[in-house]
Amino acid sequence: MTAPAGKTALMIGASRGLGYALAAEYLARGLRVTATVRGARRTGLHDLARSSDGRLVVEAVDITVPEQVAAWHDRLARATFDLLFVNAGVTNGPGETVADVSTDTFVRLMVTNALSPMRVVEALQDLAARNGTNAVMSYLDYQGQTVCW
Ligand SMILES: NC(=O)c1ccc[n+]([C@@H]2O[C@H](COP(=O)([O-])OP(=O)(O)OC[C@H]3O[C@@H](n4cnc5c(N)ncnc54)[C@H](OP(=O)(O)O)[C@@H]3O)[C@@H](O)[C@H]2O)c1
Repeated sequence: MTAPAGKTALMIGASRGLGYALAAEYLARGLRVTATVRGARRTGLHDLARSSDGRLVVEAVDITVPEQVAAWHDRLARATFDLLFVNAGVTNGPGETVADVSTDTFVRLMVTNALSPMRVVEALQDLAARNGTNAVMSYLDYQGQTVCW
């Protein structure tokens, strides 16, 4: 996905992994980036922000807590983003099957990886720039029954 310099990106779930790498790449390409972690723990994203000349702002939000998303939306209310990218997600254990996964774990995966990203896109929609892009990267996999979207 390309996004020209001077544009703005909102990257949700960027403390590590692909979200962190995408945030770093967009920053390197000249975008202004707002990116999120979960909780108060210091992450590599905070270190990246320190060397970003103010072009990377770190926010904290848990996408499975609608009250946090709503409060965060209100804090962002004057911002507009050319790219809204929901990357936040959890992964089930390797080899875990539908037959042996606990219902609680399955529900947690579905809430985090399916319901919450859609809720976030809807809740933040008024922050999207005209002709902006929404993107979601997520994952549901149980013994070869995979849905990536
Ligand atoms: N890696 C793959 O092969 C692959 C393949 C297909 C799809 N995906 C999907 O692509 C996305 C990124 O994958 P990845 O391998 O980079 O994952 P990762 O290293 O596990 O990173 C997941 C990111 O999402 C954040 N996150 C998790 N739950 C959250 C929540 N409730 N609220 C807010 N943030 C939350 C994590 O924050 P914390 O640090 O606080 O946990 C972390 O920043 C995920 O959605 C994954 O399911 C990955």
